[in-house]
Amino acid sequence: MTAFALTRTLPEDTTGAALRADVLAGLGRTPKELPPKWFYDARGSRLFDEITTLPEYYPTRAEREILLARSAEIAAVSGARTLVELGSGSSDKTRHLLDELHSLHTYVPVDVSASALRTAGQALAAQRPGLSVHALVADFTAPLALPDTPGPRLIAFLGGTIGNLLPVERAAFLASVRRLLAPGDLLLLGTDLVKDEATLVAAYDDAAGVTAAFNKNVLYVLNRELGADFDPETFRHVAVWNSEQEWVEMRLRSVLGQSVKIPALDLTVDFAEGEELRTEVSAKFREKSARAELAAVGLAPVRWWTDEAGRFALSLWGVDEAGR
Ligand code: SAH
Ligand code: AVI
Repeated sequence: MTAFALTRTLPEDTTGAALRADVLAGLGRTPKELPPKWFYDARGSRLFDEITTLPEYYPTRAEREILLARSAEIAAVSGARTLVELGSGSSDKTRHLLDELHSLHTYVPVDVSASALRTAGQALAAQRPGLSVHALVADFTAPLALPDTPGPRLIAFLGGTIGNLLPVERAAFLASVRRLLAPGDLLLLGTDLVKDEATLVAAYDDAAGVTAAFNKNVLYVLNRELGADFDPETFRHVAVWNSEQEWVEMRLRSVLGQSVKIPALDLTVDFAEGEELRTEVSAKFREKSARAELAAVGLAPVRWWTDEAGRFALSLWGVDEAGR
């Protein structure tokens, strides 16, 4: 039996209103910035999948290595009957977990990209008879209403996507994940680790230019959704390591002075020559500070693994019952 359902907790008009609010606030600020969730229309999701295959982009391979080695242990420790995955995208690495989670009843992939959810969810439901796949189009930075499914629950947040949240967003996000966990439930978290600058910058500025295309995709999204007249050719992809914040920043640098019209907002945005728009931060972690951040919201460490080369960590966290 094929069991696939897709629930939209974000009606199209809510998504449109959120985009307009983010663009109005972000492009009105100095320096200009936009949240990275707007990269991921169907083209952006495909470009991200292409990034994961690039020689310079090590996080996906490193996390897959850990999942291949540890999925059986994760299944044994969690005994999960429901797997919720935040920012699931193609659900590609998740297959290693699904292969081992023999007691699983329902998989709940959660993503802002309806196209990614539909493609991945339908394929999984067809390939795994008996598994119920309940996809949720939702923004994981807003309170999540999860379907009523059997516990224990394992909430997976893979790929290092937690690093794309700014520190205040990250603290609020972790607190909301904590509220979704009952005693016995676990969080499985992928975090990219601090390493040398050359490796980090190359991962976000690949020789083939796929990350540049992914970065500029947000301009195509604004052109399509808001009628804007960005010329992506007049923006340069920039990736820099911010050693103070310990994150890689992706920016789009205007190569000339220009005015961009955004009719849906009745707005004209001026860019000076060389002015940059920050489109993403990708924070890199250290074990000690990660433990402190999770402890601050009442999450206790259960396991911490890295790949052989020590580039990426996958960790399990449970409710700290002695705490809150
Ligand atoms: N987990 C996959 C995909 C990572 S790409 C992997 O490890 O390879 C990041 C994914 O998170 C994309 O599919 C994107 O659409 C989704 N995403 C980004 N911001 C989001 C948000 N605020 N709410 C829900 N999904 C989001
Ligand atoms: C989804 N996220 C973890 C990716 C990252 O590495 O921060 C997004 C990405 N941006 C550029 N390349 C990949």
